[in-house]
Amino acid sequence: MSPDSGEYLVFETTDAMWQFMADKWKEISSGAVEKKGHFTAALSGGKTPVGFYRRLSSVEGLEWNRTCLFLVDERFVPWENVESNYGMLKEILLSRISIPSGNVHPIVTGTSSPIASAEKYEGELRAFFKLPEGGIPEFDIILLGIGEDGHTASLFPGSGALKELDRLVVPVKLGAAIHERITITLPVINNARNVFFLVSGRRKKVVMRKLRQGHDRTLPASMVNPQKGKLSFLMDREAVG
Ligand code: 6PG
Repeated sequence: MSPDSGEYLVFETTDAMWQFMADKWKEISSGAVEKKGHFTAALSGGKTPVGFYRRLSSVEGLEWNRTCLFLVDERFVPWENVESNYGMLKEILLSRISIPSGNVHPIVTGTSSPIASAEKYEGELRAFFKLPEGGIPEFDIILLGIGEDGHTASLFPGSGALKELDRLVVPVKLGAAIHERITITLPVINNARNVFFLVSGRRKKVVMRKLRQGHDRTLPASMVNPQKGKLSFLMDREAVG
């Protein structure tokens, strides 16, 4: 499967998109709980998924005590900072649901460096998923967004992080004025059972067109290619144009 063979679904409104995603979350999470006793998801930050997290917080019948949440990426800032993905998740979702605190796995940023944070998070993934040497976690759901430059998670065009084959989590250095980041890598994303991109707004129109045409293989989002899982792009009408 490649991104051009992934499923592209277009919704008239973001509200309809959130409802679809919430229904999928319910279906996939209950299936996972039934099969293995728990459900795992890795969540992205950015502005697009905020509406979905708000919607998810009010869905009834979800087994939050069997749900384990991880982060796709994080900025190297304190959790209280407005730029923190965990800070946003806490405010919009976690503070509104009954999830045991031990089920939530944020990327710790109170370390000496993004390198230390990435190593710590990798250790956390390895311990949680009980991974053997060389093992890769298999998330039930990974939620991604896409930037206008085609980045996804904190995997930016031209970044060495895109070539990472061994590490599950890496630090990412951007321009001097921007916070450094920590991100899960492509091997983790591409080992998930279900990968959903949530895409909204006309600013994403050009990059989505490029992605669908499939010519530009340097776009990080075009490298998302789950080997055993399902890839879906959920887009609102504005993102399609
Ligand atoms: C982040 C994300 C990043 C995001 C895209 C799209 O932490 O910012 O993980 O990859 O999904 O930049 O962001 P918007 O949803 O804000 O457009």
